[in-house]
Amino acid sequence: MLEEISKTRSEIEEAAGNISSVDDLQAFRITYLARKGKIAGLFARLREVPPEQKREIGQELNALRLFAEKLYKERGKQLETSRKGKKAFLDFTLPGRDLPIGHSHIVSQTIEDIQAIFIRMGFSVAAGPELESDYYNFETLNFPPDHPARDMQDTFFIEDRVLLRTHTSPVQIRLMETRKPPIRAIMPGRCYRNEVISARSHVQFHQIEGLCVDHRVTFTDLKSTLVAFAREFYGDSIAYRFRPSYFPFTEPSAEMDISCFLCHGEGCRVCKYTGWLEILGCGMVDPNVFKAVHYDPEEVTGFAFGMGIERTAMLRHNIPDIRLIFENDARMLRQLG
Ligand code: DAH
Repeated sequence: MLEEISKTRSEIEEAAGNISSVDDLQAFRITYLARKGKIAGLFARLREVPPEQKREIGQELNALRLFAEKLYKERGKQLETSRKGKKAFLDFTLPGRDLPIGHSHIVSQTIEDIQAIFIRMGFSVAAGPELESDYYNFETLNFPPDHPARDMQDTFFIEDRVLLRTHTSPVQIRLMETRKPPIRAIMPGRCYRNEVISARSHVQFHQIEGLCVDHRVTFTDLKSTLVAFAREFYGDSIAYRFRPSYFPFTEPSAEMDISCFLCHGEGCRVCKYTGWLEILGCGMVDPNVFKAVHYDPEEVTGFAFGMGIERTAMLRHNIPDIRLIFENDARMLRQLG
């Protein structure tokens, strides 16, 4: 009998150790402590015990029951506190977790920022189609057929004389065809060129075109407008210069450089150690362009400009590779939020 008591004791100990739920606790109680449980069974057999051992065995049995009751209470308490612990984890008063929400793409942000500056200077915003005709993309912009300047812009042709626009300049023509001067407008949009994709060029990119036409618009107006823009966009401390250039649709033509705001003119990888960054092309609208839209070049003059959006964004955010802008890698997008 004593042996059995000690076996039951180790059994109880093990069973208590295995309790991990309220159901386990309940089963433990029924197995050992209930009226028909194992301990009660042992008590019942006290009758068979010789009288001289009754006292000793009775004491052992009592100790066994106390032992079982103690374990039962302890495990019950432990279950309770761990349940409370779990409840604390579900604290409904905690503020909710923010769901990630998107933001406008770096290209849209750049367009909006540039736009905002020109809108303040009295420019309106216009748009044109991405699928263009040779007529608007080249001919009216003073690129005669077989003109070598057409080779400057490797074109995706859809069919004969229908193409993906290579620049936003055709929107100038569409605008002048439908409006009378004075015109002050900027025209953002996507363009396409059949280029080898590299860190510096892509088959798709964006430009912002600008056009100002009125009586007696001068090159000074062009310069003051673009300098005001550059100061506002890149900062007051930049230096600038205009270099003579060539575009078929402007005469004279120029490219505008600003001092490199990364190295402040000392020379770095981004400005190719020149201290200068080219930011846009511009010029006075060529009389042939006015003739194509039935404006009288003796009556009106104007200036135009065009600027690459990706290039602008890359300079501003120090992005080393244009492909990063279009790959939509979330890690990249998050940084530019
Ligand atoms: N369309 C030119 C290009 O894609 C950019 C440009 C230069 C636009 C001079 C203009 C301009 O309006 O006057 O390279």
